[in-house]
Amino acid sequence: MKPRFEAIAWRAMRYSGILLIPLAWFHVYLQDVIVGVHAIDINYVAVRLANTGWVVYNFLLLAFAFAHGMYGLRQVSFDFVRSERGRRNVSILLLVLWLVISLIGAIALIGGARPELITH
Ligand code: HEM
Repeated sequence: MKPRFEAIAWRAMRYSGILLIPLAWFHVYLQDVIVGVHAIDINYVAVRLANTGWVVYNFLLLAFAFAHGMYGLRQVSFDFVRSERGRRNVSILLLVLWLVISLIGAIALIGGARPELITH
């Protein structure tokens, strides 16, 4: 990998880590401490996901947390994959995985929850 790319990725990892502190902590504080899992059902999620602000918030949480994790996995894989070519392939694979799964998450968030589709 080019040194310039490595420097950008290194910085991105640190910035995303800092951003994750408010994003992830507030998410858990809100959902688990303030609201509580006993109060979470499909109607609750439907109301939240009808709000564009929460959709954006959740997408940022997903994209940054996942990028942060994938970057960490990439570093760990470099302990085992030594060749330049191998490292390049691992990096591309992880990037594609990150893109595809982030896209699936975004589609789920935009689609929202549809309680009216549940039949009892
Ligand atoms: C006990 C702890 C947690 C509870 C009760 C909880 C609850 C929820 C609920 C109800 C949703 C649905 C969407 C919404 O209402 O906004 C959600 C979505 C989400 N949560 Fe959590 N959560 C917890 C911990 C975490 C943690 C630790 C992370 C990551 C660091 C996380 C990441 C996400 C993401 C990325 C989404 C959006 C997923 C998507 O649809 O693409 N959650 N969570």
